[in-house]
Amino acid sequence: MIAIDGPAGSGKSTVSRLIAERLGIPHLDTGAFYRTATLAVLDDGVDPGNPEGVLDVVKTMDMEIGDATVLLEGRDVTRAIRSASVSDQVSVVSAHPAVRTILVDAQRRWVEERGGSCVAEGRDIGTVVFPQADLKIYLDANPDVRAARRAEEMPDDPNAGADLERRDRFDSSRTASPLAVADDAHIVDTSRLSIDEVVGRIVDMVD
Ligand code: DC
Repeated sequence: MIAIDGPAGSGKSTVSRLIAERLGIPHLDTGAFYRTATLAVLDDGVDPGNPEGVLDVVKTMDMEIGDATVLLEGRDVTRAIRSASVSDQVSVVSAHPAVRTILVDAQRRWVEERGGSCVAEGRDIGTVVFPQADLKIYLDANPDVRAARRAEEMPDDPNAGADLERRDRFDSSRTASPLAVADDAHIVDTSRLSIDEVVGRIVDMVD
């Protein structure tokens, strides 16, 4: 079990996917759970800041996180969960403690169903979801680099860079399992490293 945490734009997604591929184990993107819940909330016209309303939606939504696709009520929402409107509200929805309890359970089940081994990425993997992980990595990069990466990933969203800063502040300051470095995590600053270099360092640690 490898836990990879860090802020948006730190390179988490690309790096986690490549490491999982190299090791031949599943890759768990926990952000997809919070994004799908946010899409369900927005689709139902519920105020993301209303804890009871949000919890009702999350308790009853039919979400299927596959290895490459995400379904919500049977509809393929793999692309829709990356839209600017979801990115804009996902921090608000993911800050509700009851939502986190449900989604953390679902994440643990996801891994169990696949045999218990995976590369899991998120904000609270090493601290809350899998504190027993064999290797914990905290990926970081300076804010300018992270904003530039995110803008490149989302060329249609002119606010992607600014949105990232706001989301980081929110994710790091919320009360329920904020983005934090686990005591036993290895911190890797990716600002000046290529993807291959980051993957190489982590695979060396696994070895
Ligand atoms: O990794 P991402 O940018 O797709 O995550 C979207 C949001 O979901 C992020 O801003 C905070 C939340 N999130 C979380 O609270 N805990 C996680 N383990 C993963 C994501």
